[in-house]
Amino acid sequence: MSKINTTKNIINVSGVHRRYELAGQSVHALKGVDFQLAYGEFLSLVGRSGSGKTTLLNIVAGLDRPSEGTTYFKDQDLGSMSDEGLAILRRHHVGIVFQSSALMPLLTAYENVELPLRIQKISRSERDRRVKENLDLVGMIHRANHRPYELSGGEQQRIAIARAIITSPDVILADEPTGELDSITARKIFALFRDLVNERDISIIAATHDRALIDVVDKVVELKDGEIA
Ligand SMILES: Nc1ncnc2c1ncn2[C@@H]1O[C@H](COP(=O)(O)OP(=O)(O)OP(=O)(O)O)[C@@H](O)[C@H]1O
Ligand SMILES: [Mg+2]
Repeated sequence: MSKINTTKNIINVSGVHRRYELAGQSVHALKGVDFQLAYGEFLSLVGRSGSGKTTLLNIVAGLDRPSEGTTYFKDQDLGSMSDEGLAILRRHHVGIVFQSSALMPLLTAYENVELPLRIQKISRSERDRRVKENLDLVGMIHRANHRPYELSGGEQQRIAIARAIITSPDVILADEPTGELDSITARKIFALFRDLVNERDISIIAATHDRALIDVVDKVVELKDGEIA
């Protein structure tokens, strides 16, 4: 019998283990993790370096598969989906923000944000409208024609967020999005996430080391040595 409640939670992780096997050595990175993200929730995943935050986010994103356990996105069991199915799910429903922005270096800010819409074959006029709207939302419309190396770290991260939300995903998964930013800029990024949750009905998981940021989130989940603390 499934105990999954698909009405309240957009993400349900249950009994997840992840073991990495390396030349005879096994690393048990996640040890039976149960975890839920509710619709419209801003959740912060905290924990020391090596506690399993990235491993868990990659599994939730369908970028990696658990050694054991199940992950549901809405009512879809990720374990039953093909790699191609997972890629399609990500393209339409999940926005991913990494620790360093991973923008395309030769594209402008505008073109970086536009890229997911090109992949979705959205028309040019619709792309233009949405790119401008989202650049404006993250406060970067005035830097539309800059390339990543002509932007500060915080500005690059805001472009990465605009790129992650351009497809109107249901959920944003952010892996230490403020890891390379100063504390004031980091707070601004978390405030922007807060606004997205409040105004756009997006659900967010943001992994962070920085406990000073967590006063704006709805819920904090701590990982300790591969287990929920
Ligand atoms: N590809 C891999 N192969 C083998 N071991 C790995 C791999 N990726 C992570 N690990 C191990 O799994 C554990 C959890 O790593 P993970 O990257 O999830 O931690 P983290 O909480 O994201 O840490 P950080 O805060 O430093 O980013 C660590 O002990 C790490 O060494
Ligand atoms: Mg990590």
